[in-house]
Amino acid sequence: GSGKFFVGGNWKCNGTKESIGKLVSDLNSVKLEPDVDVVVAPPFIYIDQVKNSLTDRIEISAQNSWIGKGGAFTGEISVEQLKDIGCKWVILGHSERRHVIGEDDQFIGKKAAYTLSQGLGVIACIGELLKEREEGKTFDVCFQQLKAFADAVPSWDNVVIAYEPVWAIGTGKVASPQQAQEVHVAVRDWLKKNVSAEVASKTRIIYGGSVNGGNCAELAKEEDIDGFLVGGASLKGPEFATIVNSVT
Ligand code: G3H
Repeated sequence: GSGKFFVGGNWKCNGTKESIGKLVSDLNSVKLEPDVDVVVAPPFIYIDQVKNSLTDRIEISAQNSWIGKGGAFTGEISVEQLKDIGCKWVILGHSERRHVIGEDDQFIGKKAAYTLSQGLGVIACIGELLKEREEGKTFDVCFQQLKAFADAVPSWDNVVIAYEPVWAIGTGKVASPQQAQEVHVAVRDWLKKNVSAEVASKTRIIYGGSVNGGNCAELAKEEDIDGFLVGGASLKGPEFATIVNSVT
């Protein structure tokens, strides 16, 4: 693998003050392996609550950000504001934003560049739909999404790539370790050919899509799986800890 194992918990649009309070207290009491970067992404409105109650051992990510400096953009949240409340990361290009909200490659690339320019890290998500996999287009789709990030970002130092096959997200249908490893290798190869050998070897490529406490260990054994982006299972403190601790 490349660098430190990285596990992110994407809470998506879930939780209440009460359930998040419970999750934070569970996360504060679990044992986490020291050699893993651990990040959670609460819904915007709960970030402040989480920041004020969660152990500093775990960093905070937003699930989205505005494309540029704040101002007259009703309903948006700027990177400056995220930084102000203590976020260190932003998840960008998540399939739910691409396919449910309709964000396109260029828009996502601009957000990534702006986020990095403000000193926050980017969890850059890519991944194919089931139909695209069945048509043999998995690599094409992933490379196109990757290229949009590559064209936009000046540096990969603060970027983690999350490969999330859309058919595996929230479906309970996890990619096999071989399926994930195959794409991670292809992504690393693409970075080597199109960015640099250094970026290819240093950039962490994490897997997301129905990762849970039962399947994480097998996936974590794969050479090019450098961590996970976890949805549903990140809403349970002890299970999330199991995933963090699956580092090999
Ligand atoms: O960002 C996380 C992914 O979308 C995975 O979600 O673990 O619920 O399948 P999931």
